[in-house]
Amino acid sequence: MTTIRHAPYEDSADFTIGLKPIGEAAWLEGGEADPAARKDPLFATRREIVWGETAGSLGGQQEVLALIEAALGPAPHDPALPPLYAAARRTPDDLVLMEKQDGAWRVAALSLCAPTFFTARDVLGASLAQIHGPVHGFSERFLTRVERIFDGLRPDLILERRNWNLVNSAELHTPDPAPIRARIGSIDPAQAGAELFVRVERQTLRRLPETGGALFTIRVWLHSLDALRDDPARLAAFAKAWRAATPDFREYKRLGLYDELVTGFLRAHGESHSVNGS
Ligand code: HEM
Repeated sequence: MTTIRHAPYEDSADFTIGLKPIGEAAWLEGGEADPAARKDPLFATRREIVWGETAGSLGGQQEVLALIEAALGPAPHDPALPPLYAAARRTPDDLVLMEKQDGAWRVAALSLCAPTFFTARDVLGASLAQIHGPVHGFSERFLTRVERIFDGLRPDLILERRNWNLVNSAELHTPDPAPIRARIGSIDPAQAGAELFVRVERQTLRRLPETGGALFTIRVWLHSLDALRDDPARLAAFAKAWRAATPDFREYKRLGLYDELVTGFLRAHGESHSVNGS
C-alpha cells in the first residue's frame, strides 16, 4: 500500500496561494536515501536545463548552503561546486534562490532536477510576474499579494504551499510535457490506475536574513491513481476535485486530455459521476 503524504486535491480544485506557516522541524521532508545520486548525473549532462546562476548570487547561494547545513548537519562538500548546488544535492527538494532586483523578485540561482514542465533556462533572471505569465489569472488574482508576501517575509517564518496535477509519467525529471502527452492515446483504459499519477508539488518559502533574499523549495511527490483505491475517503476527495476543477485550472493543466481515462477509472471504483456531474 502506497502512503499518500500530501493530498492537496482535498483542499482545492482551483489555483490558490495557500501559504501556511510550518515549524522549522517540518521544513525539509527528506525521504530520499541519496538525492545526489539522482541529481549529479543531471548536473553533469543536462546542466543548462537543471542549473542556473546569475552574477552576484554567490552571497545568497552561500547563505542557502548555511541554512541547509544548519537543518541537516554539516557535511564536506566539493568547493568547486556552486554553493546552491552543494546544498541541493543534500536534499530531495529543488532549490530556488529569489532576490529582489530592479524592484522585482527574480530567480537569482536555481537547482531544478524535478521540474513540472519548465527548465532552469526558462526562469533564470525572470520575475514572479514573468514566471507566472502562463498561469491563467495569476497577475489579476495573486501577483500583488505574492509580492507583498516576499517583501514582508519574517526570518522566523517558514511558509508551505502545495499544488496538484495529473500526469501519465512517474518520472521526477519532466522538463517537457510534449513527449509525455504524446503517449496518452496509447494508454489502455484498463491500466489508467497504474499509468496515471497525481503529481503534487510541496513548496516552501523562507527569508535569507543575511543577504535579504528568499529561498523557495519544491519537492515533488507522485502517487498512482491506483494508490487511491486503498483509501476511499481520498478517492472520493479526488473524484470531487476532478469534477469541481474550474475551467481555467482544467485548461491550464490540460486535464481534459485525461477525462476519459479518469472518468473510466472512477466509475470502475464506484465513483460514478461524470465530469459534468450527470
Ligand atoms: C511562494 C509564492 C508562490 C505562489 C503563491 C505561486 C503560485 C503558483 C500557482 C498558483 C501556479 C499555477 C500552478 C499551481 O500551483 O496550481 C504556479 C505555477 C508556477 N510557479 Fe509559482 N508560485 C509562487 C512562487 C514561485 C516561485 C518562487 C517560482 C520560481 C521558480 C515559481 C515558479 C512557478 C512555475 C515555473 C510555474 C509554472 C508556470 C508555467 O506554467 O509555465 N513559483 N505558481
